[in-house]
Amino acid sequence: MSNHILVIGKNSQLGKSLQKILRSTWHSSNLTIHSSDTISASMCNENNFMFVSRDMLDLSDSKSIKEFFKNNHFSGIINFAAYTSVDKAESNVELVEQINHYAVSQIAGISKIQDIPLIHISTDYVFHGRDMMPYEETDEANPKNVYGATKMKGERAMKESGCKGAIIRTSWLHSEFGKNFVKTMLKLGRNRDSLGVVIDQVGSPTYATNLAKVILTMLNQQKTIQNLNSQLSTYHFSDDGVCSWYDFAKTIFELSEINCQVNPLETKDYPSAAKRPRYNVMSKNKIKSSIPGLVTQHWREALKDCLTELKKKEF
Ligand SMILES: NC(=O)c1ccc[n+]([C@@H]2O[C@H](COP(=O)([O-])OP(=O)(O)OC[C@H]3O[C@@H](n4cnc5c(N)ncnc54)[C@H](OP(=O)(O)O)[C@@H]3O)[C@@H](O)[C@H]2O)c1
Repeated sequence: MSNHILVIGKNSQLGKSLQKILRSTWHSSNLTIHSSDTISASMCNENNFMFVSRDMLDLSDSKSIKEFFKNNHFSGIINFAAYTSVDKAESNVELVEQINHYAVSQIAGISKIQDIPLIHISTDYVFHGRDMMPYEETDEANPKNVYGATKMKGERAMKESGCKGAIIRTSWLHSEFGKNFVKTMLKLGRNRDSLGVVIDQVGSPTYATNLAKVILTMLNQQKTIQNLNSQLSTYHFSDDGVCSWYDFAKTIFELSEINCQVNPLETKDYPSAAKRPRYNVMSKNKIKSSIPGLVTQHWREALKDCLTELKKKEF
């Protein structure tokens, strides 16, 4: 067995954030525990991860997946790759099913046969968003759109496969990498005097760096390593606090000193291909109690960090 942890989705926001942390000094002071399990803390070093992009492993092609795993062996798998374009998913159902459901099922099957843990990222969009209480991991999934439905099927396939590892549901990811709401707002805000943003959809933003740190922390603690190596658990993770897209946009402009007026829009006045949940706040009690010493951040503070990183990239 290779000592490497495979990371699928090298160029995703999460993939790039994880690579950034592994190259930084953050991890060296935090990752100290050693273990003899299949995934071990001593592996939290850039050299022990193998990041692959679509050209090396194409999740839309089941033969490509089979061939890849026939020729490569790992001590664990992290899957960040997905079809993530929520509106486009509505008219690309077959492809989205393949990437978000069947490919996950196939990878989970390989993880089960090879007896290696799989960490897979899912979404708050598996929930309907009609309740006004934070969703627990055990709450019923009832997605409103194709993206959410295929991610839910991916989760279920993982559970049915009998593989071990973790499903981590997250929400409203943003980062200095790739495409996301923060980058879109900055671009629009710099070119417009005013902008309408939806006020009646509420959730929790998540700085991708913070989720990548959570995963590294999981790979660094005896207790969580043992869990990953023995059972499949579902967790929720986002930054702390709750806001609407409108609040989020206003804060982006405030912190970036962009003079663009934000006007509140109701969902009914902002037509989009995919329906979206109204209230998708997730309880993080489980992940907080499962990872001793887990440090979380309020979304506003995390947004400041993201904007600082974006500024560094601009200069
Ligand atoms: N973005 C959000 O707001 C959000 C919210 C909740 C949950 N999530 C989940 O979090 C995870 C990471 O999201 P993200 O925003 O970091 O992703 P992202 O930046 O949108 O990137 C998606 C990744 O999926 C890969 N991919 C797409 N089709 C593929 C294929 N056929 N074969 C192999 N790879 C393929 C892409 O690879 P290439 O770059 O090589 O094309 C890319 O690396 C996903 O599981 C997503 O469902 C995201």
